[in-house]
Amino acid sequence: MKNFVFQNPTRLVFGRGQIAKLASLIPSDARLMITFGGGSVKKNGVYEQVVEALKGREWEEFWGIEPNPSIETLKKAIAIGKEKKIDFLLAVGGGSTIDGTKLIAAGIKYDGDAWELVKRGAYKDTVPLATVLTLPATGSEMNSGAVISRYETREKYAFYSRYPVFSILDPEVTYSLPEHQVACGLADTFVHVMEQYMTTTSQSRVMDRWAEGLLSTVMEIAPLIKQDKCNYDLMADFMLSATMGLNGYVAMGVTEDWATHMIGHELTALHRITHGETLAIVFPGMLRVLREQKKGKILQYAHRVLGINEGSENEVIDEAIRRTEDFFRSLGLTTRLSENNIGEDTICEIERRFTERGAAYGEAGNVDGKLAAKILRSCM
Ligand code: NZQ
Ligand code: ZN
Repeated sequence: MKNFVFQNPTRLVFGRGQIAKLASLIPSDARLMITFGGGSVKKNGVYEQVVEALKGREWEEFWGIEPNPSIETLKKAIAIGKEKKIDFLLAVGGGSTIDGTKLIAAGIKYDGDAWELVKRGAYKDTVPLATVLTLPATGSEMNSGAVISRYETREKYAFYSRYPVFSILDPEVTYSLPEHQVACGLADTFVHVMEQYMTTTSQSRVMDRWAEGLLSTVMEIAPLIKQDKCNYDLMADFMLSATMGLNGYVAMGVTEDWATHMIGHELTALHRITHGETLAIVFPGMLRVLREQKKGKILQYAHRVLGINEGSENEVIDEAIRRTEDFFRSLGLTTRLSENNIGEDTICEIERRFTERGAAYGEAGNVDGKLAAKILRSCM
């Protein structure tokens, strides 16, 4: 196990009716701005719950943070935040609204162009922010990351700032999610855990078994949620799995991969494919191409998570990769580039971008432009 420092300061407030606690969680003298996505919260009663909880208070509202939040929109919110001297932000929505709000929180405190912060990759001087999560997937409600897009140039990059002060997670607010978003959220959760697990063996028994617990949970609940997405206990397990999958709890002292995500971000930036679906396409390809390098961990996953106990090593690995792709397909997602009309042009562009930025992703630092292209070709 490697040395590590672990600290996660976000207060999780979990369960039915918890949005009502907002007033006691937000400082009473805060100059508050509440941020939203495209309006789903007005249809499912979440907006009303927020308004009811904050009755008697004043706040600014900012609407229209898109899926894959754009710098173009976020700059507008930053300008309003500066003008109104906002000193507390509440994001109400999915990962995109939360991520966008993390950049707003940094941008309010920054004098230059907020895109510079994204290119810099990190900025810790921010206005405090909190969240009401409506979509389990990204873990953004309990981590310091954000992923920001620039539509004009079709770019998408990760940016790190501060953790939310608190996050309210009420599984009931997820009942209104469209099926495709549920599928993408399950895939995202699954691959987050994989990015921290599917590396090499024997680094930490604790991390391995926590990660395997989350992977098994996601695989177990996925078909049940498909039949009954308004089941409180299932959605509670989904929500908690998503949060625990990317809040640092399965990353202590172990190497991480993240190459699937980096390639996936390019597919979203270039073709607007939903984040979770890009992972369903790339991750099986990552396993196919790096099966030798990841052999020990694929075998461990096959045995402990998938229960594959028979066959030669090669047969077990083949079966594990096949079942992983089948799992994504069972969610209703595509797993091949050709199904999305993506071909050689895109592969070459991603190779060019990775080479230009000197990419060296993955636990071994060997996923460069060339290897990324090989992985993508195996996903045709
Ligand atoms: O915008 P509204 O109208 O709210 O609708 C959203 C949006 O259209 C809708 N939605 C959200 N909650 C709903 C709902 N519809 C009905 N009922 C509800 N309860 O769902 C759509 C997608 O929302 P979005 O926030 O884009 O989804 P998600 O949470 O999957 O976030 C995706 C973004 O997060 C980034 C991704 O790259 C992508 O940009 N990620 C952030 C990470 C992080 N901060 O740590 C890590 C992840 O790997 C990921 O990269
Ligand atoms: Zn993700």
